[in-house]
Amino acid sequence: MERSSKAPGRPGDRCVMVIFGATGDLTKRMLLPALYNLAKEKLLPEEFALTGVAIDDLNQDAFRERVRQNLIEFAGAENGCPFSKWLMERLYYLQGDFRDLATFERLKSLLADVDQKHGTGGNYLHYLATIPELFAGVVERLGTVSLTREDKGSWRRVIIEKPFGHDLASAQQLNRQLAAVLKESQTYRIDHYLGKETVQNILVFRFANGVFEPVWNRRYIDHVQITVAEDLGVERRGKYYEQAGALRDMVPNHIFQLVTLTAMEPPISFEADAVRDEQSKILNAIQVFQPEEVLTRAVRGQYGEGQIEGIGRVPAYRSEPDVAPDSRTETFVALKLSIDNWRWAGVPFYVRTGKRMARRSTEIAIQFHRVPHMLFRETAAGLLLPNLMVLQIQPDEGISLRFGAKIPGPVVRVGVVNMNFNYADYFGQEASTGYERLLYDCMTGDATLFRRADMVDEGWAVVQPILDVWSALPPRHFPNYPAGSWGPPEADELLERDQRRWHVSEPRKPAA
Ligand code: BG6
Repeated sequence: MERSSKAPGRPGDRCVMVIFGATGDLTKRMLLPALYNLAKEKLLPEEFALTGVAIDDLNQDAFRERVRQNLIEFAGAENGCPFSKWLMERLYYLQGDFRDLATFERLKSLLADVDQKHGTGGNYLHYLATIPELFAGVVERLGTVSLTREDKGSWRRVIIEKPFGHDLASAQQLNRQLAAVLKESQTYRIDHYLGKETVQNILVFRFANGVFEPVWNRRYIDHVQITVAEDLGVERRGKYYEQAGALRDMVPNHIFQLVTLTAMEPPISFEADAVRDEQSKILNAIQVFQPEEVLTRAVRGQYGEGQIEGIGRVPAYRSEPDVAPDSRTETFVALKLSIDNWRWAGVPFYVRTGKRMARRSTEIAIQFHRVPHMLFRETAAGLLLPNLMVLQIQPDEGISLRFGAKIPGPVVRVGVVNMNFNYADYFGQEASTGYERLLYDCMTGDATLFRRADMVDEGWAVVQPILDVWSALPPRHFPNYPAGSWGPPEADELLERDQRRWHVSEPRKPAA
């Protein structure tokens, strides 16, 4: 079992971080701002250097200038801020083709110099911010030139972004290719949902409070709903999204993280493998659909044009750049999942995610059973709704509990009220990309929030039958939901058949 040597608040281990794809979007929007925020929290080691590798023909000075501008634009850094100056003194660039072994040989000699100069102890954190087609090749070539070999007490780790494969077979193949070069303990597969404070809080909420765990099971919970709704469309990612679709893009990764954290048993500790073992058990317990079940338990949709509050009129998916005019790619998916274990037998987990929906909202809604004996049947209380607990992940982070309360007055009337906790009221709002914690954890060797190879495979194993049936039976009615709605009518029917309805949270009020 991997142990983290992390003491709270200590900076990450000394290291050189190498970013493959250093001139791309991820670097400027996420990685540089995350490093900036880590530095502000004094969590970056003094013995640190950053080496960017990319195909763009830039010299050191041009790269440094670019990073300086990126920090101003995306991290909110002030011109000439101390971090920017500090980083410029330890920032390097290597131009090269990731398919060419010579690039890696040059990288090796550059890193040897950088390591010496900055006292980084031979620790290298390679971040693959590249297109997925390059993952296996980059790792193989890093291995060939020994940039993944851990010796003399140094560590060598590789962070890989999603997607990990595009189906079960390709994910297994990628895992095999990685395992040929790296130990599992060197492999850090990022799911940025695990970098979100509110996602991490699911575990704290469940396991640091004695009051919830006793009712967190089929005896008290009627069903669970997980919604990851986005108001954005595919932006400039039409090419990728056409091949992916909502199911691949969101379900085996982000949504399954939310499912496993909600459903898992208490781990024996917060060590990486103790937590991931419990998540993995849930993934294994999700009932895999038979082909005929795909028709009744999975719904797909694609948005047509429509109106979104706060955004305005938006075009149909099929009119987006790089999207085929007769595209069959789904931009919405809803599933009724069953978790076959003692705790959750008979408790459906309804999940849905989509683009261009009415509003951005990621939440987990836990609906409890109705009271067993309705004392107030003869009064308006008969309308009493069952208790509902909502863990709101974004954008307005918080937790609410719906319950019934007596409306003051001489007759017994029961109203529905909400008890709300808003994160921002208590903890303020920190600037965060979600990558800070993940980069820091990798620098300290804590893999708890990264996906293990088996979890990747298990996630794909659940969605594979859906991919198979959907590719064999093209959708007939696309587009089938207007932008700005909550998805196609079939998604509502999925719950109506079980006498249930999707929960839609009202947007929360911003903190005063
Ligand atoms: C990414 C998907 O992994 O997650 C995107 O590829 C999606 O399509 C994004 O928009 C959602 O992330 P977040 O943090 O905005 O909820």
